[in-house]
Amino acid sequence: MLLTNHPRKAKTIMKLLVTGGAGYVGSVCATVLLEQGHDITIVDNFSTGNRDAVPANATLIEGDIRDVAGDVLAGGNFDGVVHFAARSLVGESMERPEDYWHHNFVTTLTLLDAMRNHGVTNLVFSSTAATYGEPDRVPITEDMPTAPTNPYGASKLAIDYAITSYAHAHGLGATSLRYFNVAGAYGSVGENREVETHLIPLVLQVALGHRDEIFIFGDDYPTKDGTCIRDYIHIKDLADAHVLALESNTPGTHRIFNLGSGDGYSVKEVIDKCREVTGHPIPVTMADRRAGDPAVLIASSARAKAELGWRPSRTDLDTIIADAWAFTAALGDHAHSAHRKP
Ligand code: UFG
Repeated sequence: MLLTNHPRKAKTIMKLLVTGGAGYVGSVCATVLLEQGHDITIVDNFSTGNRDAVPANATLIEGDIRDVAGDVLAGGNFDGVVHFAARSLVGESMERPEDYWHHNFVTTLTLLDAMRNHGVTNLVFSSTAATYGEPDRVPITEDMPTAPTNPYGASKLAIDYAITSYAHAHGLGATSLRYFNVAGAYGSVGENREVETHLIPLVLQVALGHRDEIFIFGDDYPTKDGTCIRDYIHIKDLADAHVLALESNTPGTHRIFNLGSGDGYSVKEVIDKCREVTGHPIPVTMADRRAGDPAVLIASSARAKAELGWRPSRTDLDTIIADAWAFTAALGDHAHSAHRKP
């Protein structure tokens, strides 16, 4: 168990529906909301989530949002919804775009209609840097063009358009949070997916002995060491932004905020930092570029700081990787990665 900050208690206790609350981001946000005294109901179909990640003091409803949203919201007197349930693998979205349009776009539309039908007007939506595509410059601000390069990013952007129109026409009060590269762990929850594609958990699986090496996808990018640069944000800082958004949503308004730490680290720098934190040599092999990877993604979170009052406190890569490593090492042979060949 990692140490947690002493949580502040919310001034107003809310009854909240958290979709996808068995996933990595959803379960940490649910944990943080529970710490503040909110009443949390989680809906998850466990297509990718972990039963172990569901906080013990949340109410759990197992099911697909498209099937259960109406019934759950009808009888619940909910004050708000935090919507995480989604497919989120860029590569998979290129091969099976239909999954992303159905599971992301159609599901969210069903949820928005259920919220409207039952008078729930407070929404926080889990969005992504992938809505911007390959940016002309960094740091990326919210007023820069959105040009997603894959169906995952396109489905999330389409949802933002839907949310804006529901806000204007039907009085929804919503915030979309566009995450950059989320990492780290909080409490007993961290990254432990059956199918892992993200850099930091993969590198830590090498340190744990569950993989032999890490492949670096391209070292010929126009960056300082040739590898891609990303902006890593600690999961707890990310969760805090959801709380602030829920507390300040206003009916009829849809706000969009980028969330990152504002610093860029190359793939090689991340691997070096993992070597330092874990004390493991972490063998690497150079590989071809991965299709669709932008060279540099760095967030400007100035708007979130100014308008939400967001104050990230775990922005250094050491803390992010140390927390991720404490979680991964504690899982050991209970990790999903232990059950696959390296
Ligand atoms: N990488 C490797 N080897 C690996 C895994 C990743 O070199 O085994 C590299 C990637 O090529 C990339 C960097 O590490 O340059 C980070 O990759 P991740 O897969 O961890 O994260 P992404 O930057 O691809 O993903 C993030 C968000 C997505 C979002 C995407 C937009 O997690 O939600 O940015 O490009 F869609």
